[in-house]
Amino acid sequence: MKAVTWHGKRDVRVETVPDPKIEHPTDAIVRITTTGICGSDLHLYEVLGPFMGEGDILGHEPMGIVEEVGHEVTEIRPGQRVVIPFNISCGTCFMCTQGLHSQCETTQVREQGMGAALFGYTKLYGQVPGGQAEYLRVPFGNTLPIVVPEGPADERFVYLSDVLPTAWQAVEYAALPPGGSIVVLGLGPIGDMSTRIAQHRGAGRVIGVDLVPERLARARRRGVETLDLREHENDLAEVIREMTEGRGPDAVIDAVGMEAHGSPGIKMAQQMTGVLPQSVAATLMQKAGVDRLHGLYSAIDIVRRGGTISVIGVYGGMVDPLPMLTIFDKQLQIRMGQANVKRWVGDILPLLTDGDPLGVEGFATHKLPLSKAPEAYEMFQKKTDGAIKVLLKP
Ligand SMILES: NC(=O)c1ccc[n+]([C@@H]2O[C@H](COP(=O)([O-])OP(=O)(O)OC[C@H]3O[C@@H](n4cnc5c(N)ncnc54)[C@H](O)[C@@H]3O)[C@@H](O)[C@H]2O)c1
Ligand SMILES: [Zn+2]
Ligand SMILES: [Zn+2]
Repeated sequence: MKAVTWHGKRDVRVETVPDPKIEHPTDAIVRITTTGICGSDLHLYEVLGPFMGEGDILGHEPMGIVEEVGHEVTEIRPGQRVVIPFNISCGTCFMCTQGLHSQCETTQVREQGMGAALFGYTKLYGQVPGGQAEYLRVPFGNTLPIVVPEGPADERFVYLSDVLPTAWQAVEYAALPPGGSIVVLGLGPIGDMSTRIAQHRGAGRVIGVDLVPERLARARRRGVETLDLREHENDLAEVIREMTEGRGPDAVIDAVGMEAHGSPGIKMAQQMTGVLPQSVAATLMQKAGVDRLHGLYSAIDIVRRGGTISVIGVYGGMVDPLPMLTIFDKQLQIRMGQANVKRWVGDILPLLTDGDPLGVEGFATHKLPLSKAPEAYEMFQKKTDGAIKVLLKP
């Protein structure tokens, strides 16, 4: 089959690799019909190289048609339409039954000290072949796939794999009071969808921050107040306080993560990991604070005293310096983590079948054949051609 494989910093290729096979009686093989490129894939493309292996198959936002199932799979059958969550979770362990699927105790990558395995996402998360491919082996065939209705186009449902539950959790963790105010830092797919869900769930005021004109414009078209970071590099928090009765918003979502624009000093440490031998670089990434923390620092500054910060952007450093004095004195609550995809599906699915209040149709700016993955990655990373969300069609 054809699959998108990793070969080094900013080097992904479409190659022919062996077809996946049923390995356990509860496995399913899914023929992928649509698969997204995520902002998290950009970390693999740029800074997480030390944790990748040459030829690893990328991708964790797939959906498609069940092709084949192992003999113990009773809950899905060939021909059914399914979306596959990015977390590989068993659905039956202690963590899964608490709705903490990203901590699944059956798939935790213990030798790396990490939580649940993920599709297509580094040795830290199990080095499991991903879903930017023609076929995907899916474990836990009875509990992991999300069966979705026939009829509407794939883009109605594909975001159930990641974008929707991730943004839903971002808003949930923001603990917004009814009618409250929220700032979303970063208007990529995750931040953009978070603004839509915050509006849908009754936020009184939604303010979005980014530095890419078409991302700001797209949020504005849906009634989000926007601030262009390029105009407010030094006074962002001040301006937001002025907009929110001098106090700051009830909550801030950090949908930027470790590759934030800004904080040039830390950028250098991050770039160093690109030129070191793999093992040294991996240790440096994990042991040294090499995140670019601009997003998180601004969240701490912006949020009102006693407010909540919901960190949904991914961070990866181990000794990142944090302004504990400010965090403690402002009495902040900070919540974070990988999205527990299956936990939120029940809340979201009705919004996809009954009208389209979140605007998932038309959310993708580009739909390209899988063979165009190298161009698609480059375009999404450089934010050229108005790229905000890219779907690949195997
Ligand atoms: N927690 C999870 O389960 C989960 C799931 C999916 C994605 N993510 C993470 O969420 C983050 C966003 O993902 P995405 O797909 O939207 O990616 P993206 O890279 O398209 O979005 C990031 C946006 O942040 C903007 N930005 C950069 N620096 C900024 C700053 N200092 N202030 C404000 N905006 C800034 C960029 O211009 C970009 O539009 C990534 O870190 C990704 O890894 C987390
Ligand atoms: Zn993702
Ligand atoms: Zn589990």
